[in-house]
Parts: sequence; structure tokens; C-alpha cells
Amino acid sequence: MTDTITVQKNLQLLGKYRYVEVQMMELIGSWAYTMVQPEIKIAFGRHMFQDAVHADLVGKRIPELKGRAKQYQLISPSDDFARLIETIWKADDELRRMIGLYRILKPALVNALNEHLKHVELPADEPTAFILRHIADEEHDQVAWAETMIRKLIADSKQGGELEKWQKQLEKQIHDAGGIWGDGKQSGSYLFKKSHPYSELPARDQRWNIMRKVDEFSEKNWSFDTNEGKLHLLHDLLNSEFITVERMGRIISDFPEIPWQMKLDMTRQGWDESRHAEIVQRRLEELGGHVGMYPTSFFGWEQDVNRPDPLERLALSNMTFESESCKHLRDWIAKADKTGDTRSKQLIEFLLADEVNHVLYGIHWIDELTRDDPERRQRVLSYPDKVLDAQHPVGIYFKETINAQKESS
Ligand SMILES: [Fe+2]
Ligand SMILES: [Fe+2]
Repeated sequence: MTDTITVQKNLQLLGKYRYVEVQMMELIGSWAYTMVQPEIKIAFGRHMFQDAVHADLVGKRIPELKGRAKQYQLISPSDDFARLIETIWKADDELRRMIGLYRILKPALVNALNEHLKHVELPADEPTAFILRHIADEEHDQVAWAETMIRKLIADSKQGGELEKWQKQLEKQIHDAGGIWGDGKQSGSYLFKKSHPYSELPARDQRWNIMRKVDEFSEKNWSFDTNEGKLHLLHDLLNSEFITVERMGRIISDFPEIPWQMKLDMTRQGWDESRHAEIVQRRLEELGGHVGMYPTSFFGWEQDVNRPDPLERLALSNMTFESESCKHLRDWIAKADKTGDTRSKQLIEFLLADEVNHVLYGIHWIDELTRDDPERRQRVLSYPDKVLDAQHPVGIYFKETINAQKESS
């Protein structure tokens, strides 16, 4: 192709880029809780948000080019392309997924964007160029990060030949599908739902020592004014940060029908939590701790990610647990300050700033989406109490502190 890309041609292509970004965001969200490598979980939090922002930027450019009809926002390059995504989504080990996403889909997108950029009409279409350049840059960085990880994982695995075959098969599949542009193909309509089996626990590497009974849980009784107390509390928080990356991923993949702005908020929260995991793990290690030094509770996981209403998940985890967590973080900041631990204080202040927003996401979306549905609102808001009542003694502990907080405010 030698001609510059016209307004009409843009409208045929931008919706495809947006479709691919949304699919990749959902793949990441769908997989996060089943991936064992903590570095992958952290990168997933970051990449899921970046992909959401990419889709958002393209989605805003489309109506500027007079593509106001909804059909322009999401264009599947071809049915074969959708089947390729499905094949990758169904891959059941970390390496096959990583290869599918970071060696096939993302590089194909970067190539398509670079090809587009070569033919962009300048300066007339500078706004499109500006967006596509930004996306290509970030995707390129994601691919570079993943390549290092994939090579490391392949070196540790004994299935080099099988993986090569898998990659070849996907390369052929994307080529036959006409790639991201769907060259020579009708745009597709094939849909599949990224469903999940009932989940009791998210995947963790072998360092984590998982509590089997809730009454073993005592981490919240520690105080941030001693080093040992800090280790207990930070270790427990680290686990919660990972859980929240995973929770956000599940909302994104389980509920493709939620409002776009809610997806942006949820992916933003996923990114925040992945940074928190990084920060908290580093501070834990600086203070002499390490992952797996104490047993870890997954209280609330099962009651969250298996709920069919995303708002019940937000009521339980954002409005209840994270709101509770804000109170703890304030206490830790005060104690870190009093004991001269400036480093912890500074870091936790950033964490707290983010957590307050997460509570607000919960309040906002429950309010917004149940405004005309009092029954749903009632069911959603009463869900946390049901869970807390059923769990002794952790639930009782949370309930007591939450009630005390309500009385004092
Ligand atoms: Fe967090
Ligand atoms: Fe949070």
C-alpha cells in the first residue's frame, strides 16, 4: 500500500485496533489469577491498564473522524482472528499463553500500527499519528519485557520443541486470518465468552504458605510500631495486593458488558495494586522479611470472584475490605512517623492515596448502576454482612471494627 490513509480507511482500521486491545485486556484479566509467577501478575496489572488506555484513546479518535455509530468502535478483523484469540485464551499453561499474547498478538499489532504510521496523512491526521505512536511504543516495551520472561521460562521448562510448534501454529493461524487488518477478509462476528470455573484460591508460587482455616488468622492483631509487627502486616498486605490485581482482572474478563468508564476504573485499580505489590514486597525485604514467612489468608476470595454480580464484589472488597484497609494504613503511617520510619511512612502515604480512590470506585459504581433498581441495590449492599456473619472469627473481627468505626464517625 502506497497511498496515505484516508478518513474512511481510518474508520475501517481503528475499530480493529480497539477490538484487539480490548481482547488483550480481557485475556490478561482472565489469566491473572491462574498465573503462578509473581512478576507476571505485576506486569499483568500494568499491561491490562495500558491496553485499556490504548483502547480508550483509539475509541475517542473514532468519532472525531465522523465514525459516530457504535459499529465503528469494535471491529473484529475476521472470524478466523476471533478464533485465534479463543485458541490463545484456552492455552492452559503460562508459557503458551505468554507466547500467544506477547510473541503473536502484540507484535502483530505493533507491526500494523507501524505500517499505518508510515502511511498517515500529515499534518491532516496528526491526532491519529500521535495516538498510534504512543500505543506502538508502550506495546513494544511490553513485548520486550515479556521476551525476557519467556526466555527465562523456556530455559527452565523441558518443552522447547513443543512450544516452537505452538508458536508456528499460531503464526500460521494469524497469517491465514489476515492479521490485525483482516486483509482479504470480511470483518467477523464470531463471539466467545471467557468463562471461569468456580475458584477456591488464586494460584501462588510454592513460597506461599496458605492458611486452611480462617481461625488461624491473627495478622491484624499486630501493630506497626515494632519490626516484627511490620513484617506481619506488610506480608499480609502483600498478599492482599496480589489478590486485588487478580480480582480486577476477573471483573474485566467476567463482565464485558459493564460501562467502559467502569472498565477504565477497574484496570486503573489493577495497575495501582500491582505497583503496591512491588512496593510492599520491596519494603518487606528491606526490613528483613520475605515472601512465605507467615501463613497467608485468602479470606474473602471465594466470596468475591464467584459472585455473578460485579457490584456485590465491589461492595464486599472495595467498600468493605479496602475501606477497612484505609483505616489501618492511617494507623501505620502514624506509627511509622512516631518511630522515625520515614521510608515506610512515605510509601504507605502513596498506598493510602490510591486506596481511597478504590473505595470511591466501589461507592460510585454501585450508586450509578443501581440508581433505578432499589432491589439490586439492597441485595448488593447487604452482601458484605452476609459474608462477614458466615466467617468466624475473621468476619467477626471485621464487623466489630467496622461497627466501631461507624459509631465513632
Ligand atoms: Fe492496594
Ligand atoms: Fe486497593
